[in-house]
Amino acid sequence: MDEKNRINTLNNIKIFTGNSNRALVKRVCDYLSIPVGNATVGRFPDGEIDVKVDEDVRGSDIFIIQPTCPPVNDSLAELLILIDCFKRASSARITAVLPYYGYARKDRKDEGRVPITAKLVANLITKAGADRLLTMDLHAAQIQGFFDIPVDHLLAFPVISDYYRKKDLSNFVVVSPDVGGIKIARLYSNHLNIRLAVVDKRRYGPAETDVGFVIGDVEGRNAIIIDDLIATGGSICQAARVLKEKGAKDIYVGATHPVLCGAAAEKLANAPIKEIAVTDTIPLNEHAKSLGEKIKVLTVSNLLGEAIKRIHTNMSISSMFIEQ
Ligand code: R5P
Repeated sequence: MDEKNRINTLNNIKIFTGNSNRALVKRVCDYLSIPVGNATVGRFPDGEIDVKVDEDVRGSDIFIIQPTCPPVNDSLAELLILIDCFKRASSARITAVLPYYGYARKDRKDEGRVPITAKLVANLITKAGADRLLTMDLHAAQIQGFFDIPVDHLLAFPVISDYYRKKDLSNFVVVSPDVGGIKIARLYSNHLNIRLAVVDKRRYGPAETDVGFVIGDVEGRNAIIIDDLIATGGSICQAARVLKEKGAKDIYVGATHPVLCGAAAEKLANAPIKEIAVTDTIPLNEHAKSLGEKIKVLTVSNLLGEAIKRIHTNMSISSMFIEQ
């Protein structure tokens, strides 16, 4: 199929959203040169979610872009109710697009009497009526297996690595803040052609971690710590401190999802970090904005828009990353 015909098939595509990140959705629609779908996602007086789609969607290929970021429960409920609405309105296909997949951290029973919320959310999305999932930098890639519908898993890696590539990287090292992040950090290391180091992080609870030693040579080098998300900021700040103790020079951070809850912004402001590059999968909250020049927001709208176009026109998504 040539490019002209591919673009023509986009006529039947429609993109809708709730309230979790309307600015990102506008940027995605700008990339695709289509308007944001016309829907009202409001509240009844008692706080229940009130959805009304204000245009015909019968037979359309629907993409609902809604990161399930804070307020997490509202974002998730809006998504589920939107999916239900489009199912009942006879759309042809519904793709739930979660640039950030919340509730992902509980992905296994690592102790007795705990839920697996990542699986519960997968069940809810599927049961509500989604036909496909498009998401980005899942906390654990195996969450894809919690779905029995097709899942496309994007990486923000091209956006963040392009940003850092513009610096003089001759004396840099890429750092994974824990062993779980080695695979993605290695991707940066290979792509940017710089060495890799790993921080030995131990987790003792949802907000409690400790770091011991660093594997790899960081002394006298600038470091880029790569992580999927910053929540309390504990992992990144501890990694930055231990790198400094081991003689690292300037410390940079690349993290996809800027959740930045609680006192995260304050911690990051006081940590020995020169710059933090995050993406717009989640809007920055007011505390995060107070970091000013220290935080740089990169957009993933083109990546998402391109992936949506490819899903709609049955083109490969993985080839978007192969040449990286
Ligand atoms: C851990 O496995 C993740 O990759 C992140 O490092 C972690 O979830 C970030 O959380 P926090 O900012 O609360 O340390």
